[in-house]
Amino acid sequence: MNTIWAIGGGKGGIGKSFISSSLAICLTRMGKSVTLIDLDLGSANLHTCLGIKIPNQTLSDFVSGRTHSLADVTTVTEIPGLNFISGFNDALNIADLNRDAKNRLIHGLRSLPTPYVILDLGAGTSENTLDFFLAADQKVVAVTPEPTSIENAYRFMKASYYRKLREAESELGIQSLIEAAMDSRNNLGIKSPADLVRYIHQTNPEAGLRLSNKISDFSIQLLLNQVRTRQDIELGHSMKSVCKKYFGIEANYLGYIDHDNAVWQSLRKRRPMVIEYPYSSIVGQFLQISKNLLNPAALRAVI
Ligand SMILES: Nc1ncnc2c1ncn2[C@@H]1O[C@H](COP(=O)(O)OP(=O)(O)O)[C@@H](O)[C@H]1O
Ligand SMILES: [Mg+2]
Repeated sequence: MNTIWAIGGGKGGIGKSFISSSLAICLTRMGKSVTLIDLDLGSANLHTCLGIKIPNQTLSDFVSGRTHSLADVTTVTEIPGLNFISGFNDALNIADLNRDAKNRLIHGLRSLPTPYVILDLGAGTSENTLDFFLAADQKVVAVTPEPTSIENAYRFMKASYYRKLREAESELGIQSLIEAAMDSRNNLGIKSPADLVRYIHQTNPEAGLRLSNKISDFSIQLLLNQVRTRQDIELGHSMKSVCKKYFGIEANYLGYIDHDNAVWQSLRKRRPMVIEYPYSSIVGQFLQISKNLLNPAALRAVI
């Protein structure tokens, strides 16, 4: 089975597509084959980050059932080892994907022939976006050192964690507790996912234990983009502690990427940064982050 990395973050314009495409090309530079998928349905533009035209067939052909295999909508790019699946279709929105189509797509991702699959997610916290994020082996949350991005990153992590808890609810019979917790006016003292898990442990220790087992694989990789100062770099550490303390979410600080004007310059030339400036410090940072993601055991001690 292949390994799936998802790049989310809740906010648009923070560099998710730039990061997804750069990590994918870095992996190919390390001799790995990758399929890069644009799941930002509605505003798909990953092809531009790769500097290629919109392929004739896109995910909408698969989702609508016009083609039955993801192989039919896969483009073999000129970058050796890199396959690409475009999400381009102005009329298709991620929220429109019905449950069947989503499940078919998630199943299809696992059957792709490349050992690595990278998902470029859209902004927002729609259920479908959260489900693709949760389906990934490595759940990367991109954030920039700006209050709006930080706020959306927390919101995204919290929403995905609640979604993960919801997966467990019917099995464990805790629907009503989750409903109560999601209501911000609940009088159970539940303000965060961590409070909820604690509460379930107290009220029903057996369900609490099973819940903890079920959510034990939920771990976030924080990636700070557009870093300009030493203080910006520190933000990754403080976000990691906040995740643990207030949300009960395990997060690792995966690494950071500098802010660099060369990013938009290469975008404007439609030449991926990793190819245009292979010896830049940003590309060095991406290579290091790729190595960290390839070696999950080393992740805790990254920075
Ligand atoms: N590290 C960076 N340094 C400078 N500009 C960046 C950096 N990362 C992203 N950008 C700029 O941010 C913009 C949005 O990036 P994009 O990848 O499209 O974001 P998203 O996919 O999250 O919407 C792009 O125009 C890109 O030039
Ligand atoms: Mg994007």
